[in-house]
Amino acid sequence: MVKIAPSILAADFARLGEQVRAAKAAGADMIHLDIMDGHFVPNISFGADVAQASIQSCSLPHDAHLMVTDPEDYIDNFARIGAEYITFHLEIDGIKKHLGERRWVYVIAEDLNVKRIFEIIGRIRSVGCKVGLTLNPPTEITRVLPFLKDIDLLLLMAVHPGFAGQQFIPGVFDKIAAADDIRRENGLQFEIMVDGGVDSDNAAELHAAGADILVSGSSFFKSTDYAEFIRQAKS
Ligand code: DX5
Ligand code: ZN
Repeated sequence: MVKIAPSILAADFARLGEQVRAAKAAGADMIHLDIMDGHFVPNISFGADVAQASIQSCSLPHDAHLMVTDPEDYIDNFARIGAEYITFHLEIDGIKKHLGERRWVYVIAEDLNVKRIFEIIGRIRSVGCKVGLTLNPPTEITRVLPFLKDIDLLLLMAVHPGFAGQQFIPGVFDKIAAADDIRRENGLQFEIMVDGGVDSDNAAELHAAGADILVSGSSFFKSTDYAEFIRQAKS
């Protein structure tokens, strides 16, 4: 069965503890933490202190999605507060592509700094966390191949990261299916997570394509009945 990871980026921060406890009571499997530095993505969200408030409010596993240019600077803090997964972007050494006024996305560099990626994977592992690697919508699935045997989680973005409530980009379906094929053909174990624009309508199709964990921000926290949202998403 697919797992659901509500993103607290779309929660009511004034009632954060209450909201994550309600998510757990409704059957959520994980809580997703969207960490933004205002540089890698055009927005700032929250840091380890707010993330810790969520972790202390509900006992679900938390995954920290680091949308930051220098993940090295955040690993120790997120490990210390008890994040189970720490996920960083393959585009950290990439090129800033402008998408419009105060909007941008980093696209992967041709000459990817492979050494740095492996060093970050090693550092996350060394602090006892599970390792996630994530791809922005423009990044081809082939670019992540060298790292798949060393990670626990492959996070496929279905929006340009930075904001909750954006429109789902359907190109992610082919990427999910390709990642699922690669995983099966090579006997690998990483989980496939999809993030951005997920709702109770596209959830079944995403799971059928090969996704194991679905992040949902706005659709989840705006729904009037969290348990019903999860029931529909899992059906
Ligand atoms: C986007 C974030 C997502 C986002 C999901 O930068 O990584 O986790 O908050 O929110 P929705 O489900 O509203 O797209
Ligand atoms: Zn996210």
